[in-house]
Amino acid sequence: MLPPRYQAKLDQRRSTESQKHQTNFPDWSALIPVLPAGGPRRDALQAEMRRLIETRVLLPGQKLPPSRELAQRLKLARGAVVAAYEQLAADGFVEARTGAGTYVAAQVPEHAALKTAPLTPAKTGPTLPVPGKLGSGTVDDKTLRNLRGLFREALLRPPPGFLHYGDPFGELPLRREIVDYLRATRGIRAEVDQVMITSGTQSALSLIARALLPPDSRVWVEDPCYPQALNLFRSLGLTIVPVAVDRDGLDPAAGVVAAPEAEAVYLTPSHQYPLGTTLSMPRRLALLDWAKGAGAWIIEDDYDSEFRFTGPPLAALHGIDRAERVIYLGTFSKALAPGLRLGYAVLPAEVVETVHKLRDLTDRYPNPLIETVLARFMAEGQYAAHLRRARKRCRMARDALVEGLSAAPLDVTIPDQGLHLIAHARNSALDAELQRLAQAGGLASRRLSQMFLKAPAQQGLVIGYSGFEADVIRAAASGAARAIASAGIQ
Ligand SMILES: Cc1ncc(COP(=O)(O)O)c(C=O)c1O
Repeated sequence: MLPPRYQAKLDQRRSTESQKHQTNFPDWSALIPVLPAGGPRRDALQAEMRRLIETRVLLPGQKLPPSRELAQRLKLARGAVVAAYEQLAADGFVEARTGAGTYVAAQVPEHAALKTAPLTPAKTGPTLPVPGKLGSGTVDDKTLRNLRGLFREALLRPPPGFLHYGDPFGELPLRREIVDYLRATRGIRAEVDQVMITSGTQSALSLIARALLPPDSRVWVEDPCYPQALNLFRSLGLTIVPVAVDRDGLDPAAGVVAAPEAEAVYLTPSHQYPLGTTLSMPRRLALLDWAKGAGAWIIEDDYDSEFRFTGPPLAALHGIDRAERVIYLGTFSKALAPGLRLGYAVLPAEVVETVHKLRDLTDRYPNPLIETVLARFMAEGQYAAHLRRARKRCRMARDALVEGLSAAPLDVTIPDQGLHLIAHARNSALDAELQRLAQAGGLASRRLSQMFLKAPAQQGLVIGYSGFEADVIRAAASGAARAIASAGIQ
């Protein structure tokens, strides 16, 4: 038996809780956690609700709770809520329907912060593997078997960080492996302390941009540009400076004309995304020179250099940087699979501490279990063997794709690196139409023209060939070629 005063308190608590659960409205007191104590409460409520509507937390057509209920929950006078609703209605954010209550208006202005947000809506759920789709991993059955064994072992003897908090830059064994790998294959000399494991390039880019580039900083980007990076920079309020790309890659001279004092440049020097060109040595030197003089950061995205099919691998830009201006980004999304969410950044010593602090505040540290597995995978030579197999399979898939497309009225550039190719449209064909026809034939693609910013848009399809057997890719490409040819496109 509880003492009567506790019993009374408990009864009261239960009764308010059950009242809360009887309503169909969300708990507004949670959505509007703090109304400033000073100033008119009505104004504070109205401003908060406006924010929730503008940022799409409350959606057009959604019913608002009756003013009496909201007043009770927020411990406000009902008059204050009524006045806030009236003001929102006058401003066009809500509409009162006689006898039916108040609703979020069908058309509401967007919050300024959302206007610079990514142009395409975030995807939900795994995307289906359709031949031609970019970004399919290169894990084969053997690699999967090896990884399975390593995961089992890692769970038998979990790494320390799996059960406790770890280092914001990640587990040391993996960072050591990456240092060795980069020295041997990319000509990069880095200390373990400079290597930060991230969940892919995207998270590295986000951390670096937030740590080093205040809003309004100017960033040169390649034109055309990798949309994920571009949209991220836009969402952070950075000023985008498109710099044209030709067969020698991004032209630093054009960047200097457009924004000589830019704070950073983001580029894909080994294999320009999407065009596939390589930044020439004179331009590499010019870019490094400019960055040194301007005190700008060079963000080098080296996303697919593991897949070089002919000739020796090209050294990374980082390898010839003597002024510590280059931030190098690598990823396992292509070399293994995007689902691992593993990448890394090599940071100049000068920014290590700043980025380290931000990483700790952002998501603390990367997943130690996966890091441990990958470190073992690399240390035991399985990664190198995987890459040899993957390179071979991808080259075969590339050739099969080219073969399948040969019947289409397209000019295909055959890349000697990477996991995608470009099929250029001939004459006046538009890539929107080509994409539709290719899709009908069973081949996925992206429209090249959509990746251009200021430079005249080229029409063409960007088609991936990783993650599929050659036969499957060839059949899909032949289907696409037939569909395009039979539509009468020349
Ligand atoms: C240019 C470029 N950079 C980086 C990546 C990899 O991104 P993440 O490591 O975030 O998966 C991709 C993947 O498609 C890419 O095309």
